[in-house]
Amino acid sequence: MSLSPHFLDELRNRLTLSEIIGRRIKVTRAGRESKACCPFHSEKSPSFTINDDKQFYHCFGCGAHGDVIGFIMKHDNLAFMDAVETLAAEAGMQVPKQTPQAAAKAKKEKDLYELLEDTTVFFEQHLRDSRNADALNYLLERGLSQEIIAEFKVGFAPDDGQALRKFLSAKDYTDKDMIKAGVLRPSTRGGDPYAFFRDRVMFPVPDRRGRTVAFGGRILPDHLRPPQRGDFVPPKYINSSETVLFHKGSMLYGEPTARRAAADGQTLVLVEGYLDVIACAQAGIRGALAPMGTAVTEEQLISMWKMIPDFTKIPLLCFDGDNAGRKAARRASERLLPLLEPGRSVNFAFMPDGEDPDSLIKSSGVKGFQKILGSSVSLFDFIWNFYTQGRVFKTPELRAGVIKQLENEVAHVANQEVQVHYKSQLREKVSETFFKRKEYGFKKRDFGGYGKSRNQGGAVIPMRPPSTKNRATRIFTHALLAAVINHPHIFEGVEDALCELTLSDVALDRLRQNIMGILSDDPLIERKVLIEQLKNSGFAQEIGDICNESVYVHASFCSPSAKEEDVQSSWLKSWQDGHSAGLGNEIQSGWKNVSCEEDEEKLRNLLLMKTSDDEI
Ligand code: UTP
Ligand code: MN
Repeated sequence: MSLSPHFLDELRNRLTLSEIIGRRIKVTRAGRESKACCPFHSEKSPSFTINDDKQFYHCFGCGAHGDVIGFIMKHDNLAFMDAVETLAAEAGMQVPKQTPQAAAKAKKEKDLYELLEDTTVFFEQHLRDSRNADALNYLLERGLSQEIIAEFKVGFAPDDGQALRKFLSAKDYTDKDMIKAGVLRPSTRGGDPYAFFRDRVMFPVPDRRGRTVAFGGRILPDHLRPPQRGDFVPPKYINSSETVLFHKGSMLYGEPTARRAAADGQTLVLVEGYLDVIACAQAGIRGALAPMGTAVTEEQLISMWKMIPDFTKIPLLCFDGDNAGRKAARRASERLLPLLEPGRSVNFAFMPDGEDPDSLIKSSGVKGFQKILGSSVSLFDFIWNFYTQGRVFKTPELRAGVIKQLENEVAHVANQEVQVHYKSQLREKVSETFFKRKEYGFKKRDFGGYGKSRNQGGAVIPMRPPSTKNRATRIFTHALLAAVINHPHIFEGVEDALCELTLSDVALDRLRQNIMGILSDDPLIERKVLIEQLKNSGFAQEIGDICNESVYVHASFCSPSAKEEDVQSSWLKSWQDGHSAGLGNEIQSGWKNVSCEEDEEKLRNLLLMKTSDDEI
């Protein structure tokens, strides 16, 4: 009995050798390799090495070596099929039923690899054929070097639909196999099967071991192609369809190159297309990989992580800078959250509008591209930006709403250890964005050296002239605070502005923060209760200064007897007038720059609803 080589490859790929061995004996990591005391002979210092990249173990003591299946056979004392069954279970795979037909199939797969290898050579020869000089020139003009063309085995499929068939049948391949390998297509009109790829630049798709398993073919630019027949516009790229050897969703173009690069410590970079991968490799970014015409799949993401030894370098996913790119990134992020594990993450990079990595390298050089890669954001930040960027969270409901959305998002992180950290980062970010900056709570504030609070009994030692020196300023701030105290229901409407108002009189600023703290908790609180609470918190003196006729007389809207429905609009108007007069900064920074009499006059007229000839 034998299993298909594809199945066994898949099994080895899904498993990490050191993990499987680590479940059975104690393994310690040492760089790219892992070490253990050999389970197959007795020893005290470890000479048993495991190389995940090569999927091989070797003991320098007793010479035992083999792959994951060999290890399990030996260690678990199992026959081949039993070892495969055991490992398949650990990998969550189903072992295909073995029949003589299946065994014959396995042999056929082997033949298919050879067929595709021969086809690759055929396309390469045609690219070098002088009759197809246009195709080669096109690639050279796009900036590909002869070396990179050879390394990626880029070729050309001639227009003649029978050329490949003749070439392969001379090597004894049957039509059936050529169709099975996806290079020939049966005729719908009862004629001979004909070439699937014609008049296209060909990109062979190698599997992780470098064997061609599929192709992507790109049309030549319009001026190098015969005029179109009718309205038919051929697709820019066509890709092999799924075959026994090619499973589009689990493969990444560029894997063998990228795998070696990752082993050498380079970062993996997921790009969109064939030419992006090649252009990156040519520019020295050899960790580039691309899905083939589809959005990145879970299998591809997992396979990408598996290429990285030690998770030292976080892979980068590149997306277009436009809306479509953002949507693609969003889909990728949805796919990623359930897959995260300790050490397994990704970063997101966005290309400038209208550029892809290939064009960017051409226009801005590899430095320009690296700059974009350098400005990548973490998956967490991407999600945060996705929900918050360009939005204003004016009300508590909106803030609570977005926090809820983000919490739901974070709940999709399936790994508990990672989820804990996502949650804590979310809390931090929320507090930084919605709380800290605005100082809602009763937290002790850093007064930035402006002086001590009067409540603490010390003298005020200002670093800059205190705003209270300025009477207009004092009355303005008193009025705004008094209005909120006397009409707590306006809080929701003035909250954002109140947040911005940082008073350099520390006692007043504390009062402001306390008011906000109480009202955020209980927006329906009654005036009397609020005043009572504030007095109990040590603000009796401030309340006395603020809530009195000498303030109301300048700004009637803050008086308890003001018309309820007018208070909020007057408050906001007063606030906005200050801003539109270019005084916003002074307001925010506690009016520290208001110094001359002229400004004082301007403020008085602008900001106080009622001007009075009284001495203020
Ligand atoms: P692009 O249209 O961005 O192509 O498609 P590209 O790689 O930049 O190629 P150039 O620079 O125009 O020559 C990106 C990828 O999407 C898939 C291919 O895998 C391509 O590399 N694709 C695109 C298709 O499968 N079919 C198409 O018709 C177009
Ligand atoms: Mn391109």
